[in-house]
Amino acid sequence: MNSGTGMHNRILALQEEALRALAGASTPQEIEQIRILYLGRRGNLTELLRAVKALPADERPAIGRTANEVKETLIRELEVHQERIREAERQKRLAAESLDISLPGRRPRRGHYHPLTLITREIVSVFRGMGFEVVEGPEIDRDFYNFEALNMPRDHPARDMQDTFYLSEDVVLRTHTSNVQIHTMMARRPPLRVIAPGTVYRCDSDTTHSPMFHQVEGFLVDRDVSFAELKGILTAFVHALFSPDVPLRFRPSYFPFTEPSAEVDIGCFLCRRKGCRVCSQTGWLEILGSGMIHPEVFRMVGYEPGAYTGFAFGLGIERIAMLKYGADDIRLFFENDVRFLQQF
Ligand code: PHE
Repeated sequence: MNSGTGMHNRILALQEEALRALAGASTPQEIEQIRILYLGRRGNLTELLRAVKALPADERPAIGRTANEVKETLIRELEVHQERIREAERQKRLAAESLDISLPGRRPRRGHYHPLTLITREIVSVFRGMGFEVVEGPEIDRDFYNFEALNMPRDHPARDMQDTFYLSEDVVLRTHTSNVQIHTMMARRPPLRVIAPGTVYRCDSDTTHSPMFHQVEGFLVDRDVSFAELKGILTAFVHALFSPDVPLRFRPSYFPFTEPSAEVDIGCFLCRRKGCRVCSQTGWLEILGSGMIHPEVFRMVGYEPGAYTGFAFGLGIERIAMLKYGADDIRLFFENDVRFLQQF
């Protein structure tokens, strides 16, 4: 039924048809359909190959070779076009997913120091500028260093104002940074110019008192130190921390470990001394306690009587921070609410 030439032409026509179909295919499914159509078990080319076997023996080799060549060509081209489509799809996917490198990244938010740390550093740096060195002392201390050596014996009524947390009968959480005076003086001899920031504890809790708070202690001990130097140093400090035009007032007071003692007030910078809620209508704000170191303290640390004089002062950091930032509740500093902390 088949002449050799007719068959030859049909094979080449099939090849041409198949190659055109492949060139027009655009999905893997179409390619697969073309494969089945020509090379499948009942495909066009497969059937032709089967027909070759029926040809006269002398025509068979030439046609057989052509048919096999076409088959190989188709197998190769199927693979080529399959790859072409895969590559096109890959490019399409890449284009859709491509990174927009001009989009700004998400910056990690930068933290900063706690407002109390900022104030402490400011205070310490003013005193360092005046030649004071920084010394730290223990927060858990013996009764002796926190009370006894500071001229507050066991039954002294001044202990009432500084009730604290007792770890044992003899060991307390320090109620003030004044214990650093004792540790330093017992370990060293004058001249001493020391600034001692730190955490302190008292049984106290309301909007302006926290059971845990911070103080900066300062003291200067040498021969012939006078009250004038206390006034000079503290005035220079207040002018540096607040403003050179802030007035100071030294008000007589009492501490067991200083004599004479003075509390230092500064003119209220909120109302300019006209009287407001913050200064309770007085025009003045109390910012620290101070005084000339009591001779009994020198005796307790073992200095020979009369050899030295000196002054000491202690200020509450939270109080200064509240004044400076206009905060009306001390707990704001310890709740760690970022909406509060972010403002500094
Ligand atoms: N330690 C005192 C207090 O906490 C403050 C003070 C320190 C007063 C040094 C005088 C001298 O109240």
